[in-house]
Formats: sequence, structure tokens, C-alpha cells
Amino acid sequence: MDIASNNRRESHAPLGTKLINSPVLRAFFAQFAAFALCLLFAIAGKHLLGKAVPFFVLIAFQSITSVGLASLLRVDWWWLVIEFFFPVAVVLALYVQLPPAASLLLFLLLFLVFGTTFRTRVPYYPSQSTLPAAIVELLPDETDIRFLDVGSGFGGLLFDLSNTRPNWQLAGIEISWLPWLFSNLKQRFLRHDNLEFAFGRYESLDFSKFNVVFSYLSPVVMTEIWSKVQNEMVPGTIFLSYEFMVPGVSPAAEILTAENAPMLYVWKI
Ligand SMILES: C[S@@+](CC[C@H](N)C(=O)[O-])C[C@H]1O[C@@H](n2cnc3c(N)ncnc32)[C@H](O)[C@@H]1O
Repeated sequence: MDIASNNRRESHAPLGTKLINSPVLRAFFAQFAAFALCLLFAIAGKHLLGKAVPFFVLIAFQSITSVGLASLLRVDWWWLVIEFFFPVAVVLALYVQLPPAASLLLFLLLFLVFGTTFRTRVPYYPSQSTLPAAIVELLPDETDIRFLDVGSGFGGLLFDLSNTRPNWQLAGIEISWLPWLFSNLKQRFLRHDNLEFAFGRYESLDFSKFNVVFSYLSPVVMTEIWSKVQNEMVPGTIFLSYEFMVPGVSPAAEILTAENAPMLYVWKI
């Protein structure tokens, strides 16, 4: 199975619109504007009280104001959590005083795993270990399975499937450099011959080569990926999404893979 050939579809929204729609930039703006207000609050407080406003009050002001501004800018709830804890994390990092090289290394590692989230709005987080068994149970073993994991991360799901179903053709595509490198090297080292990992954006990949496409992405891309699925996947094939529904499209099945685990949604094309 060759997953390298492309089928490019780019978004043509103007750059200005893309920037305004970017939750990262809105979240950054909220934190930055809260910092400006916090400075004003500190100066005004000193004039009015005749002494400096306590540091913990300033931190609380920064956290609460950034959450307030971010909610006005309509970012998703998890951004509000990040907004709240970001000032506290900065103070803690300054207090712990990590050596600059360690901070840089930590930053680079995090950037190589999560840096693309800025563009994709889909961070890395692994699916649960109960998922492979549910997929194996869903798909009959005897048929010719060409399975794609869209956004394969560190490859955990595909390695598990490869162990259980060595006769399936398994492929992953991943946009983040470090997870892709890790899964690629692991595949070569452990010689999983039915498994391959491509580096790149799934938007550039032709889904018609696969008869099962699996995604564990984010609610913000489900409408977009669904139109790609409809345009490219052949009738009779299967699209799976873990945790996230396609808005307004009822699945053929909903599978609870384990108690308190996310749902696995199944659509027949
Ligand atoms: C929630 S993780 C899922 C990881 C893996 N599929 C699993 O089940 O454990 C989503 C992954 O998709 C990747 N991703 C996000 N947008 C992508 C895109 N446009 N093209 C390729 N990979 C993408 C992210 O880097 C991340 O590793």
C-alpha cells in the first residue's frame, strides 16, 4: 500500500480571517490584554493604597481577567483552563529556576509534539488501550482490510492492531515530527511489515486507497473530514471516529469500548 501520493485540498480563506479564527491567537490576545490590565491595576492600586498590591492578588487578577477576556472571545472551555493556570505556571517556572538548557530542551520536545496544534487545532493525546480490541471485534478478520489512522500520533493504536491482525494492511499519517519519527523508527526496529507511517497532513492523502479510515481528532475538524470522507471513500467502506461525532450525521453504530471510555462511532459509506 503506497500512502505517499497526494490529493491536495487547501483552505483558501484569507490570512486575516484565518488569524481571527485561530483560537491560539485569541487565547494569546486574552492573556496579553489581561497583562496590560494587570499592570494598570498594580499602578492604580499602589497610588490608591499607598503600597504595592500583594503579588498573589496580581496573579489572581491576571488569571481571572484572562479567563474573562477569553470567554468574551469565545474560545473553547479547555482554553479557559489554560488561561487560568498559565500565569501560575510562569511564576512556578521562575521560582524553580530550571537551568536554561533544560528549559530549552523541554520546550523543543513539547514543540515537536504539540507545535502543529497551532495550525491544526488538534493536539496529541493517545486513545485508550481498550480501543484496539473493539476495532478488531467490529471488523471481520477474513476480509481484506486496508486501515488508515488519520493522525497516528506515536502509533500506539496501529502497533496494537498489527500485533493482533498481522494480515491487515495498516497505515498512519502524522503531522507532528517527533511522534512520526518515533513510530517510524519503532516500525523499522520491530519489523512490523504490515504497517507504514507517512509524515504529513491527512488533507493531502487520498482516502480512496483505504476501506477503513479511523480518526481521533477534535470536534473542530469533524465537518471538514466528513466531506473528505464523502468525496473520496468508496461505497461500502467504513469511517470510524473515536469520541467525536460528525455534526448532524447519525452513525450506523455507537460502540462503548469500556466503562467510562469514549464512544467509537461507525459510519458506513
Ligand atoms: C488525538 S491524537 C490521536 C493519536 C492516535 N490516533 C491514537 O489514537 O492514539 C491526534 C493526532 O492527530 C495529529 N494530527 C492533527 N491534525 C493532523 C493533520 N491535519 N494531519 C495529520 N495528522 C494530524 C496530531 O498531531 C495528533 O498526533
